[in-house]
Amino acid sequence: MPADPSEEMKDIAGQAEAYLLWMKDEGVQRIEAGNAPSPRAGSSQGVDVDMDLKKIAKTIGSCRKCSLHATRTHTVPGQGHPRPELMFVGEAPGADEDEQGLAFVGRAGQLLTKMILAMGFQRDEVFIANILKCRPPDNRPPLPEEMETCLPYLKDQIRLLKPKVIVALGATAVRGLVGLEGISKLRGNWVKFEGIDLMPTYHPAYLLRNPPAKKDVWMDLQEVLRRLGRTPPPVKPA
Ligand code: URA
Repeated sequence: MPADPSEEMKDIAGQAEAYLLWMKDEGVQRIEAGNAPSPRAGSSQGVDVDMDLKKIAKTIGSCRKCSLHATRTHTVPGQGHPRPELMFVGEAPGADEDEQGLAFVGRAGQLLTKMILAMGFQRDEVFIANILKCRPPDNRPPLPEEMETCLPYLKDQIRLLKPKVIVALGATAVRGLVGLEGISKLRGNWVKFEGIDLMPTYHPAYLLRNPPAKKDVWMDLQEVLRRLGRTPPPVKPA
């Protein structure tokens, strides 16, 4: 969050614009006041979780367990609220994420931000992470052995964060977390990760290549909102 209040206002205005654009794309006609969710209580427990998350991030920062450490600029542990209701898991950092050390900050990340805002959350109210914590060269898909080596970091993060719902973005996230194949059949159907409700849906990068699939993702995200006891924003009938 910027220290300068005018920068902060610009930031908020930018987020609001992104929210309204995604809603407009999805045919949302009306926004109800008072429907904005808030993160789960901060509490001293949140502080402990934050410290443990930082410890995991530090361990990831010095990880050399696979060859990806040799080509990375920064590790990308993931970031967000220490007590989130909602967590998003993607595949692996791309060039922008590797450059900044933050998950989902490139083009796919901007679309993910619109999705999050359209659901009525702020980005810093959810937690965003990936299966891999380092960028694969040329953004190639993660290798099975890289996933196996890296997954314990994500699993430790999830056990600390205890989100109510995980949204797995794309085939790699679903395979990594629940070992299932076939994202187009799986999407929209609840599965469990260690007792936590997990919703498989398409990856935002796929949506950039295939915009008509946005309506499927929006349906999946509305299902997530229902599971969280939130009222999904009203959508124009098809
Ligand atoms: N794609 C991902 O899966 N994760 C990111 O962080 C960015 C793009």
